[in-house]
Amino acid sequence: MIHTLKRQFESTILKQVKAKLLALALLPGLSLAVANIADGKLLYDESCAKCHHTPYQSLGWNEMTNRIELRHMIEACSNHFQLDWNDQDVQDTEEFLNTEFFFFNE
Ligand code: HEC
Repeated sequence: MIHTLKRQFESTILKQVKAKLLALALLPGLSLAVANIADGKLLYDESCAKCHHTPYQSLGWNEMTNRIELRHMIEACSNHFQLDWNDQDVQDTEEFLNTEFFFFNE
C-alpha cells in the first residue's frame, strides 16, 4: 500500500536525490531502513517469480557468492525489466532471497 502511494508521487530523480540526502544525513550503517522480509517476499512473488520461480531458481551461469553480487543482480534485473524499484525494494528482496535461499553472511 505504502509502496503504491510512494510510486505515484515520486519521480525517479526525486528518489535518487532523496536516497543521497538520506545517506548523507544518517550514519553509514543506518543509511537505509531495516530490510523487511515480508515486503521482499511480496515484491519477489509479484515481479520475479514468473521467471525465477518459487522457490527461487538461478537462470544464469554466474553463481552468486556474496550479498554484494546478489544485490547487484537484483538491481540489474529490476532495472532491466523496468520495475521502477527503489533502494528499499531491492534491499527487502535481497533480505528475503538471502533468508530463503542464499544464506550469505556478507
Ligand atoms: C523476464 C524474466 C526475469 C525476471 C522478471 C527477473 N529475472 Fe532475474 N534473471 C533472469 C535471467 C534470464 C537471468 C540470467 C542473466 C544472466 O546470467 O546473464 C537472471 C539473473 C538473475 C540473478 C543472478 C543469478 C542468476 O540467475 O543468474 C538474480 C539474483 C536475479 N536474476 C534476481 C531477480 C530478481 C530479484 C528479480 C525481480 C526483481 C528478477 N530477477 C526478475 C530473468 C528474469
